[in-house]
Amino acid sequence: MAQSIIILAAGFGTRMKSKKPKVLHDISGKPMIFHVLDAAQKLSDDITVVLYFEHEMIREAIEHCYEGIRFKIQDVENYPGTGGALRDIETVHEEVMILNGDMPLVSEEALAPLMEVKADIAMTVLKLDDPGGYGRVAIKEGSVEKIIEQKDCSKEQLAIDTVNAGMYKVSKTILQEYIPRLSNDNAGHEYYLTDIVEMGVREGKSVKPAYVQERYFKGVNSKYDLAKAEEMMQDEIKKRWMQEGIIMKLPATIYVDCRAQLRGECVLESGTTILGHSILENAHVKANSVIEDAELFNSCAGPMARIRPKSILKNSHVGNFVEVKNSTLTGVKAGHLSYMGDSTIDEGSNIGAGVITCNYDGKSKHQTLIGKNVFVGSDCQLVAPVTIEDDAIIAAGTTLTKDVKKGELAISRAPLKRVADFFYKFFKN
Ligand code: UD1
Ligand code: CA
Repeated sequence: MAQSIIILAAGFGTRMKSKKPKVLHDISGKPMIFHVLDAAQKLSDDITVVLYFEHEMIREAIEHCYEGIRFKIQDVENYPGTGGALRDIETVHEEVMILNGDMPLVSEEALAPLMEVKADIAMTVLKLDDPGGYGRVAIKEGSVEKIIEQKDCSKEQLAIDTVNAGMYKVSKTILQEYIPRLSNDNAGHEYYLTDIVEMGVREGKSVKPAYVQERYFKGVNSKYDLAKAEEMMQDEIKKRWMQEGIIMKLPATIYVDCRAQLRGECVLESGTTILGHSILENAHVKANSVIEDAELFNSCAGPMARIRPKSILKNSHVGNFVEVKNSTLTGVKAGHLSYMGDSTIDEGSNIGAGVITCNYDGKSKHQTLIGKNVFVGSDCQLVAPVTIEDDAIIAAGTTLTKDVKKGELAISRAPLKRVADFFYKFFKN
């Protein structure tokens, strides 16, 4: 961990056109900057995040989930730009890596080429078919000569296809000596970090490129970039799970949160969405189902099921249009069209079509407890709090308002009336 890391995240993110700070936009279940922090924490014990715009909100979000991160508020009024962001930062180690808060696809492995390059200034570069938007990098005989920002490029310079990927490794000395000497004499009147390259070259320092892969260094500036970066991250996440033995049908239509865990041999059918810290173990999620912060063990759900937070399904089968919330189902069959909220249902019980736990009375939520081998017929309303003991039968259409003892039948029926020839009288002409 012999290096310090500085993460730049003070920009206004103007191109995002959003009230929310850019680095807090979600990608695959986490704010963008958390992905960068995850990579940083694998490489360093001294991490500083540079903030300005909405700094309190960003700091709070980070401190809620990470410990030991340092923060620096940039003096943007006097020193705008990526160079201004690095003024007066103390680092613990001699070697300093500078990362961008808006590059969520970065990882420890992605940064390996940068770690390996030995130079006074090492910088990540990409070769792109379409270099639009990036700073262009002039390289001669394996050394970097200078970086020209897009808005400062001549026509010839615009054609350069090697671009600055925006992450660097410099010595503490470079940081301390070069940053205060930067000027803002350019089209944007900003202090560009990228100018340290030209200064280094002029003063005989070694400035080397580290060639990296675009899929790990996609910068997010707009909502289109956000969508692209998410697509790229999804591809990485799903590839990894498929390599671990998960089956995915039409993976392009499947969404898997980066915090989800898939174990054993799961099948995810097309259009499934796995959100939050869900855990699936030998689970079969059928088409167009949504699983959110829920756990499925040897169970199947869907098509078109919704398994909501704090639900645990063990050896259970949940069919189409079934919604489960804050419930534990063990060895249960609920084949069609039902809602199980705030309930516990035990081994061998069957929940018929259209069964609803009436868990909410308008003020608070109440529990429904169902024992073993209970048969709940179709279209029952279970008015919670209510307990059904083992081996009970609840007849179809029952509105259950009292507890049911072991082995009992519970049946509620409004009397059935039949009126002869009513149709003909009612519609007479
Ligand atoms: C920057 C590089 C460009 C490179 C590109 C890669 C400079 C001058 N340009 O351009 O060469 O190709 O990244 O994506 O460095 N930030 C601050 N303080 C500021 C301004 C920005 O902390 O005053 C932060 C931003 O929050 C962001 C990062 O620095 O995380 C990069 O800033 P951004 O404005 O996105 O730079 P680019 O135009 O992408
Ligand atoms: Ca950027």
